[in-house]
Amino acid sequence: MGQVSAAGGGEKDQGWMTMSEGGFPAGFLWGAATAAYQIEGAVREDGRGPSIWDTFSHIPGRVLHDQNGDIACDHYHRWPEDIALMREIGLSAYRFSIAWPRVQPEGRGQVNRAGIDFYDRLVDGLLEAGIRPFATLYHWDLPQALQDRGGWLARDTAKRFSDYAAIVAQRLGDRVTHWITQNEPYTATFLGHYRGVNAPGLRDLPTAIQVAHHLLLSHGRAAQALRATRGDCQIGISLDLSPVHPASDSEADAEVAEQMDIHLNRWFLDPIFGRGYPTEFETLRSLLDDAIPGTTLAADLQEIAAPLDFLGVNYYASKFSRRVPVEDEPLGFEAIGPDELAARGFEITGIGWPVIPHGLHDLLMRVHRDYAPPAIYVTENGAAFHDEVIDGAVNDPRRIAYLDAHLQAVHDAIGDGAPVKGYFVWSLMDNFEWDLGFSQRFGIVYVDYDTQQRIPKASAVWYQRLCAENALPG
Ligand code: FCB
Repeated sequence: MGQVSAAGGGEKDQGWMTMSEGGFPAGFLWGAATAAYQIEGAVREDGRGPSIWDTFSHIPGRVLHDQNGDIACDHYHRWPEDIALMREIGLSAYRFSIAWPRVQPEGRGQVNRAGIDFYDRLVDGLLEAGIRPFATLYHWDLPQALQDRGGWLARDTAKRFSDYAAIVAQRLGDRVTHWITQNEPYTATFLGHYRGVNAPGLRDLPTAIQVAHHLLLSHGRAAQALRATRGDCQIGISLDLSPVHPASDSEADAEVAEQMDIHLNRWFLDPIFGRGYPTEFETLRSLLDDAIPGTTLAADLQEIAAPLDFLGVNYYASKFSRRVPVEDEPLGFEAIGPDELAARGFEITGIGWPVIPHGLHDLLMRVHRDYAPPAIYVTENGAAFHDEVIDGAVNDPRRIAYLDAHLQAVHDAIGDGAPVKGYFVWSLMDNFEWDLGFSQRFGIVYVDYDTQQRIPKASAVWYQRLCAENALPG
């Protein structure tokens, strides 16, 4: 295991750390996040069933260089080493996801003991290391057997999901206090069922609207099941949220900015916080009304609005939206791309996303003001860069600068009254970045995929200091 040391550092002299005034509140959680399919590997071990990501990644042409998560970071076997690394960094929390097809290979019925035992060991290992587990129940790896029965298009899948939630909570709920039902229902819905770039690779807007509804319903039902199983647990959901700005000062772009905001943000936030679906964006609303009968919808909305203890916010960047003809794009808008953003002066990360730290402050304040969740955790934030190992070390000053600026934004939001209780960097280690395979390195720990060696980057050393001091390194 690589040591988390100052080797390859020298960051301070390079002048890319900003000073911060004051620290973070006492008890603020410093975490890192991962997801099962992105790190575990061992896809055929101990009775795990196939997931839609196994199927999808093995279809030629769907993932860059036809890569897949068969081995990934081999975390299934190397978890003790990975926990040791977390302890060395000084994390106080770790967000991981549970693979449904390990627990129920068919997505229903019989529990696979060996599968759930893995998470049992992981949780015990984390607690022994003084690290609080945050367990996500669904990070996109639906059992393929359920996809074969309609996947999230089938209402029954929401019921299956709450059964699975109860099984996991019965086994782990005496030790896991923080639960995240769904990760990024927006991405699972629209990238998986409208853009077709994520599993299961469908491309149909009416399908996507129905899928979004069933994902939300599954969230509400899982929240109830968790609460019924462990009355004392903390329940939340992680949404990928982005402030949306018009790409120009034209009226058309202003109008579509509002629509894009509904599509990305309010379509999920509003029903979760008891306001029902937005009515203002006619295209989405009429698809919903076609898909779900009114009386069913009213009852479902009650379930979707199950009380929450916290909101998980995943933030990477703000978006700029421009009107396009509906013949080209049925939604009527698109987000402007990296070249244009670069031309407007934004720094662009390795994956092509702009660096807009104040967007995180604005987002946290908006969520606090408009929805008032009792607590907020930033459950993902981070950046991919083309990291290289030089003389055994990985120096990643741009990632440190990204994290520093975004944490400054979190700090400011707390100062302005937002109840942010913790922050999880995406990611603990480089991993399988979905349709982009292993091409994007988001980790604060570098992974050599040939040897599975872990090399803490300079950002891990920087984060270690942050965890120890509960303040941005000045
Ligand atoms: C989020 C996903 C996470 C990772 C990051 C970069 O949308 O939740 O798994 O892929 O993006």
